[in-house]
Amino acid sequence: MPVRRSRDEYVRLNMARFHRAECEQRDAADPLAPIRDRFVIPAHVIYLDGNSLGPMPVGAAAAMTRVTEQEWGQRLIRSWNESGWIDAPLRLGRALAAAVGARADEVIVADSTSINLFQLLVAALQLRPDRSTIVAADDDFPSDRYLVDSAAALLQRRVERIDPADAIARISRDTAVVVFSHVHYRSGLMLDMAAITRAAHAQGALALWDLSHSAGAANLDLDGADVDFAVGCTYKYLNGGPGAPAFSFVHERFHTSMATPLTGWLGHDDPFAFEATYRPAPGVRRLQVGTPHILSMAALEVALEAVADVDWGRVRAKAMALTQLFIDLVESRLPHAGFVLASPADPHRRGAHVSFDHRHGFEIIKALIARGVIGDFRVPNTCRFGFSPLITRYVDVWDAVDHLVCVIENEEWRDPAHSVRSFVT
Ligand SMILES: Cc1ncc(COP(=O)(O)O)c(C=O)c1O
Repeated sequence: MPVRRSRDEYVRLNMARFHRAECEQRDAADPLAPIRDRFVIPAHVIYLDGNSLGPMPVGAAAAMTRVTEQEWGQRLIRSWNESGWIDAPLRLGRALAAAVGARADEVIVADSTSINLFQLLVAALQLRPDRSTIVAADDDFPSDRYLVDSAAALLQRRVERIDPADAIARISRDTAVVVFSHVHYRSGLMLDMAAITRAAHAQGALALWDLSHSAGAANLDLDGADVDFAVGCTYKYLNGGPGAPAFSFVHERFHTSMATPLTGWLGHDDPFAFEATYRPAPGVRRLQVGTPHILSMAALEVALEAVADVDWGRVRAKAMALTQLFIDLVESRLPHAGFVLASPADPHRRGAHVSFDHRHGFEIIKALIARGVIGDFRVPNTCRFGFSPLITRYVDVWDAVDHLVCVIENEEWRDPAHSVRSFVT
């Protein structure tokens, strides 16, 4: 049931309108603003979930049509050579390298983040055979937790789960590898990748980073930070499409010494020699396991072209500004509505998403989605809002909070339809 607004609330809303004009001015002055036009954003949608699945790049559908109708449909198997299908993992890796601050030959696109994390963690552990511990975050993304446990069990190592705030102090001469998400999937906490990697190296350990929640929304400098290994997904802020293959980064100093556990035929030096025993391909090509996902890669290639000229320093600055604006607006306009900030208050320690805990978080997110404001929910009570700097306008932040105010003030979240849960939240 809609509630009548008090006079004070009307005054506040008028203030709100005044401030919206400021958002419009910020958009008009934003050098990244034109990049939004490179993506398909549905009408009447405020998309705050680019941290989960980025929007479709303009040109992706045409590229997929070309690959299916011509390359697959007409040219069939000849396209492996003629259309460069077989080179796609390295070609896309080269296209992605600048976005993560890597050299062109240090990145490959293949498989999923989970597979790549396992590959690189086992490879890294084998480079430190005499050390017994993996240092990892106590509440990292489940796939990362499960795979760290599996790798530890396989290679008889111990997992030390820590609060990442203590990372530097907890790395010791017994640490083989440290594994962290650069930006935490739930809180958005951004770790100091350079400092933690330096601390790992000072103790003779290796550093493996999961960049799933920062690649495409941060100013990454893997080589500058002297990172050993990294993985990340391409369907979030890099907008590669649902199920787009992930990437792996290996610092060039390991290109000959690294031994991978999943020795598939396409990681062989000469796959079409069909040799009886495995011989690793040079460099990151050995990380390939099986046949590349050509249809997915067609869309991802367009997505990477769409960000080829992006200034990542500006992207990072805009991420801090958008997230700060959202937090300020929620906290000033809904001070007593039960929202508890679950992300770092300091923008320098925060990625491009913001989480607020609320006891009716699930219903609130559903009510927002019904209004066309798409965020997501993480159990038990986290409302998560992503502000991909490539596609999000300052007015979107303003309007999203306006909708949130209506959802709360009109108690729209109480509609029973908003408590129905689907498999994917
Ligand atoms: C931080 C992090 N790591 C790993 C994954 C798993 O990625 P994939 O499903 O591509 O293996 C995700 C998925 O959302 C993630 O957020």
